[in-house]
Amino acid sequence: MQLEWDDSYKVGIDVIDKQHKVLFDRIEKMINNLKMDLGANADQALIKTEVEDMFYFLTDYFNTHFALEEKYHAKYNKDGLAEHKEIHKSLMEVLNEIKYDVFLKDNIDKALVNELKTQVLTLWVTHTGGEDQVLKEGLQRHQAEGDN
Ligand SMILES: [Fe+2]
Ligand SMILES: [Fe+2]
Repeated sequence: MQLEWDDSYKVGIDVIDKQHKVLFDRIEKMINNLKMDLGANADQALIKTEVEDMFYFLTDYFNTHFALEEKYHAKYNKDGLAEHKEIHKSLMEVLNEIKYDVFLKDNIDKALVNELKTQVLTLWVTHTGGEDQVLKEGLQRHQAEGDN
């Protein structure tokens, strides 16, 4: 699976597409910073704080994005809204599991940081390029009916 942003993931709603893409850029930056700090032999206490901050950001970003996106599902994917909310809920649970798992680690190294990047991006890209695409279809249906 390709873990980079691709325009084919777009759903056609600017704010949603922007958020989908921003997460990729932000995670790239945060992971690179972490690796740089690990390379500089920063102490584990500092690295742990950095990892915690990253996950506080990710939790907030996921939550904020999902809540906003659900407003668009209510408009363009009304029948699928309840199901999509459930999917968002389970994605948050998986993110939280990854988060609590890493919070309990004694030592954070580059391999773990790379693994975190893959885990989070996989969650995001699978959902963005998969289940979120119903928004694109809903939007197109709306436009075809001329009542967007
Ligand atoms: Fe989304
Ligand atoms: Fe979604």
